[in-house]
Amino acid sequence: MTLPESKDFTYFFSEETKARKPSPLKTCIQYFSDPNMIFLGGGLPMSAYFPWDNLAADTPLPPFTNGIGATITGSQEDTSKFSVKKESKVHEGDIPLARSLQYGKSMGQPELTDFLKEHTKMIHDMKYSDWDVVATTGNTNAWESTLRVFCNRGDVILAEAHSFSSSLASAEAQGIITFPVPIDAHGIIPEKLEALLDNWTEGAPKPKLLYTIPTGQNPTGSSLNAERKKEIYRIAQKHDFLIIEDEPYYFLQVGEYISDLSKRAEVAQKNANISHEDFLKSLALTFLSVDTDGRVIRMDSFSKVLAPGTRLGWITGSSKLLQAYLSLHEMTIQSPSGFSQSLVSGTLNRWGQKGYIDWLIGLRHEYTAKRDHCIDSLYKFIPKDNNKEGKPIFTINPPIAGMFFTVDMDASAHPEFATTYESDPTKVEEALYQKVIKSGVLVVPGIWFKADGETTPAQPASSKENPNPNQIFFRGTYAAVEPSKLDEGLKRLGQCLREEFQLA
Ligand SMILES: Cc1ncc(COP(=O)(O)O)c(C=O)c1O
Repeated sequence: MTLPESKDFTYFFSEETKARKPSPLKTCIQYFSDPNMIFLGGGLPMSAYFPWDNLAADTPLPPFTNGIGATITGSQEDTSKFSVKKESKVHEGDIPLARSLQYGKSMGQPELTDFLKEHTKMIHDMKYSDWDVVATTGNTNAWESTLRVFCNRGDVILAEAHSFSSSLASAEAQGIITFPVPIDAHGIIPEKLEALLDNWTEGAPKPKLLYTIPTGQNPTGSSLNAERKKEIYRIAQKHDFLIIEDEPYYFLQVGEYISDLSKRAEVAQKNANISHEDFLKSLALTFLSVDTDGRVIRMDSFSKVLAPGTRLGWITGSSKLLQAYLSLHEMTIQSPSGFSQSLVSGTLNRWGQKGYIDWLIGLRHEYTAKRDHCIDSLYKFIPKDNNKEGKPIFTINPPIAGMFFTVDMDASAHPEFATTYESDPTKVEEALYQKVIKSGVLVVPGIWFKADGETTPAQPASSKENPNPNQIFFRGTYAAVEPSKLDEGLKRLGQCLREEFQLA
């Protein structure tokens, strides 16, 4: 079946993007690889002067039967030893260092982007023909570029009411208003999003884009289901905005928390032996797969699945829009690091698409065990006391994806809520943060992640109405430490809450 072309959304481009002229020097870089051309046109150092003749790596070997995280022995059984050479290719997927360490290829080296395009076809159901990928130095860079490609000072964007603080700060620093969209335990509430936009104040700039972290949201840990995504997409079409899905945690889909240990073991066993086909089917529907128009930009990163220091990720979307990222990157990052591209491409192309899926299956297995351990431990240590209405003061929210757990708290149950804290839940939150630090455990207050922008003229007060104004939360992660340290940390957290709320 031939797919239609994407629609043209270039009218969303920022003034900066519209004003950007192609760098004349970049237009002639293509001649650099033409053997008939004596290239005197750019300040490219000769690769003979690059002081690296090969880049050697030992990586685990698919199908990673000893588990992700197992120490490799260096034997052929479990280790892939390889070198990326300066001038030649040992493997088809190698990016010779003479090329990767040279200027050029802002879109990413073809051996890497070809792998990513194949991967994209396996994971997403692309519904238009002219899509492409552009390499980035991770989602931080992808988001910063997105803001510059589309937004002007004073523009409005939508974000989950609690969202990744660095992303919000990055937008706010550019003079962009981050307007909050109501969320619940399952992420954005489509009806509320629609009501917000249907009742948008006349004269206020309409939002250009929605920034969302659909899987294992940071900070809430929530995940959007397929129905909500389809609804949100319909609303994006109705109110004409772009959807930016920031998905660093997409492959950490650990599933529902199961408290029954024998049932848990049964499911873990089944998931460890899952076929590639069933694994792919089990993954959440993506906005990219719903997108018929070309109004979704997806940001993927190797940070959480390989290593943050790779500083490597990629954007997927319609070529019409990606062209603007490319022009921007030519003048900002130029390209992700050549070492990183050579090493990651050398690894992934040796593993192959199947080997990479094996890696992702193994990683999910690891994170499921970490999530389970963390939630078990939270249930053990977080006080189970009720407030005056007979409802739990503390609520544990087991996530189905990502790295984060949250503990919700009824701030009004604090005995000094009305006195010391003047009935202000944020004051309880701030005081608690200082207390948990003193207890020797670091979890962070939800208030740090609040999207709180306001338009001019303002939106109706009802659009920010909070059904649980006294509810606060703290975010923690189970990714960073060993189980025994996690237990100790959560024990300290539990003790601190017990003391603070003066519980027996
Ligand atoms: C939602 C979200 N986006 C982006 C990032 C940063 O990702 P990267 O390392 O790819 O820049 C993080 C990291 O914590 C994150 O949680």
